[in-house]
Amino acid sequence: MTEIKLDFSKRVKKLPTYVFAELEKIILEKKKQGIKIISLSIGDPDLPPPKIVLDAFREEVVDSENHKYSFSQGEPEFRQAIATWYKRRFNVKLNPQDEVIGLIGSKEGLANITRAFANPGDKILVPDPAYPVYANGSSVLCDCNPIRIPLKEENDFKPDFEAIESLKAKMMFLNYPNNPTGAVADLSFLKEAVEYAKDNNLIFCYDNAYSEITFNGYNAPSILQIDEAFEIAIEFHSCSKTFNMTGDRVGFAVGNKKLIEGLTKVKTQIDSGPPVYVQKVATRALMTYKDSKKPKFLQKNLKIYEERQNALVQGLKAAGLDCKKPKATFYIWLKCYEKSINFTKKLLDIGVAVTPGAALGKYGEGFIRIALTRPKAEIEEACRRIAKIN
Ligand SMILES: Cc1ncc(COP(=O)(O)O)c(C=O)c1O
Repeated sequence: MTEIKLDFSKRVKKLPTYVFAELEKIILEKKKQGIKIISLSIGDPDLPPPKIVLDAFREEVVDSENHKYSFSQGEPEFRQAIATWYKRRFNVKLNPQDEVIGLIGSKEGLANITRAFANPGDKILVPDPAYPVYANGSSVLCDCNPIRIPLKEENDFKPDFEAIESLKAKMMFLNYPNNPTGAVADLSFLKEAVEYAKDNNLIFCYDNAYSEITFNGYNAPSILQIDEAFEIAIEFHSCSKTFNMTGDRVGFAVGNKKLIEGLTKVKTQIDSGPPVYVQKVATRALMTYKDSKKPKFLQKNLKIYEERQNALVQGLKAAGLDCKKPKATFYIWLKCYEKSINFTKKLLDIGVAVTPGAALGKYGEGFIRIALTRPKAEIEEACRRIAKIN
């Protein structure tokens, strides 16, 4: 019998190994050796969803009406809730008919937007270091070329638009509050970014997944607070981090009508939106915002992250490692003064799992990302272990 050769497509062969999958293998090996791992590598909150979300699930999941196909663009009530949330949170008015789309998590939308607008070979500007989906799931899997824009410490981890050579790129991804650096963007930077995108004829995809994970009175803006952004931009949001619903897979995108229409066209051919009951739960979660202020449960969670942030920064300091407390996200971006993979492996040997910066891009080299997604006591224990080896 002849053996059938099953070969991956060229585009799949171009994908790097997904960093977290690779790390998980090493972690499994360490666990087998009896090492107790403190896992500070993946941005998956350990905190539970708020009670209102769990109660809503109990009600919505048993309603048989909620098990039918959804509209690919998302249920009208969900889109209305997103528009209402936007008005309350950012004072931005959106038409739920054509400026809003529900997503199966923001990752899905970030991947599919390129499919809707870019052609094979197109150049896509992606930040570096960054959430890997912009370069891989989005650009490479759509046969496009990701062009890395360095986010350097001396530039507060913002792109230097003047330094980007003219490339005739098709799209640009940016993400603030930023994973992994924790950097934030103010409205004057966003205005500059929108002007850059307009001047260069770029579709601007702004990832605002961490807009609600902010500290010390800081409120992250929306790109759509810049009026001209409606001409070229789409903004992606997630219920994952705000409501601790990572596994429920629900997010949304808002902005320019044509961009929403393109994303809808793609999704109509691929999926049928998140389950209706999940959209109904997300609708109730969004409606916990009565104005621009964060709801009580979220304020409580943010206090917990802040306590962990303080514990980590102090513990690292005691271990001789200096880092800044970011205004947003549940990550700490730590300079490690050696190859990030080597430092990560040293930490794994003492049972602390982090993400090597180089895995998030060339310009992430020399840093590691620590996620504050474990209880304070574990973070303190991790710091004690680090102090012993540093
Ligand atoms: C910057 C950034 N954007 C988007 C996402 C995707 O979130 P989700 O697909 O769960 O909405 C993540 C997840 O970690 C992220 O870090």
